Amino acid sequence: MYGSDSIPDDPDRTAFRKTEKYKLYYDSTSKSVRKKKLPRPVDLLEVIDFKSVSETFARTGELRCGVTKVENRFDKPVFGLDECPGFYFIPAALRIEEECRWIKESLVSFPQPPNRTNHNAVYGGIHNLFNAAKNKQVLVKEDSVADDATFHNHKWASSEELDSSVNGDNCKPVPAAVLLRKLRWSTLGLQFDWSKRSYNVSLPHNKIPDALCQLAKKMAAPAMAVGEEFQPEAAIVNYFGSGDMLGGHLDDMEADWSKPIVSMSLGCKAIFLLGGKSRNDEPLAMFLRSGDIVLMSGEARERFHGVPRIFTDTEHAEIGYLEKQLSDEDDICYLEYIKTSRININIRQVF
Ligand code: SIN
Repeated sequence: MYGSDSIPDDPDRTAFRKTEKYKLYYDSTSKSVRKKKLPRPVDLLEVIDFKSVSETFARTGELRCGVTKVENRFDKPVFGLDECPGFYFIPAALRIEEECRWIKESLVSFPQPPNRTNHNAVYGGIHNLFNAAKNKQVLVKEDSVADDATFHNHKWASSEELDSSVNGDNCKPVPAAVLLRKLRWSTLGLQFDWSKRSYNVSLPHNKIPDALCQLAKKMAAPAMAVGEEFQPEAAIVNYFGSGDMLGGHLDDMEADWSKPIVSMSLGCKAIFLLGGKSRNDEPLAMFLRSGDIVLMSGEARERFHGVPRIFTDTEHAEIGYLEKQLSDEDDICYLEYIKTSRININIRQVF
């Protein structure tokens, strides 16, 4: 998941892995520990930029080779790729207010039980993580189960309240800020069981929030057959920090691949790789910015895809406009998070 110092030169690496040249690597020429390591510059010339495609199209009516404009009922243009039926890109699909809303929901309400997160395995369901991080609290074991080696019974405490006698060496208090940084995913609606790579319908769950459902239905429209409506039943929220990546994979656990996955980007800009049906097919690289929506349906669902890079530096993250929108005192905590992070919400019809 993390940035590394050198690019492995293995001749057996698949075409997909080779395109992970976009990954965050650090220049390690300097031996001086005091010198800050700098990200290695990467050639971005081949990365498709749908923002510029959209701007050029609005100005001149022209499209770059391989890109098509898809007829739709939105006020925003929707683009497709000649070589990839079932793939749709809606640049700047969300309004700034919508971006902020879904950033906040992704941090505050989406990781709340019964939704599961990557922290469940160690800590069980954690309530109010974001607020606890904001209030600089720490997670401690409950007094009544001090001899239990797990953290499944826990509570938030301020550092002043810490009673070190309750938490032995095995269960040191964990700052909420650390848990928030290590939050990698949460699941909404029908819960996905990562160990079995399938939906476990018997796990307790809430329905996908109505506003998210409505948004997904609207955005899915270009990929739906006439007269059909997308039925959002599950969503996976991915949280990326600097150096995090998502390797090439297929989202193949849903019953009907003709239905799209509606994938929403929030926060720092990223590179998305859209490969072929085999890992040996060289992927296309494209930028994903906050507010962009990608749909993958039909044939596109059979293509490997991944996210090798997010840009957290102020020059490339392209989220300056969110600073104004999140400048109220109450919102600073969201801004601090999103300045160095990306969130992806991907919404699925399971059956
Ligand atoms: C995914 O493919 O599961 C997520 C893609 C993204 O982060 O944009």
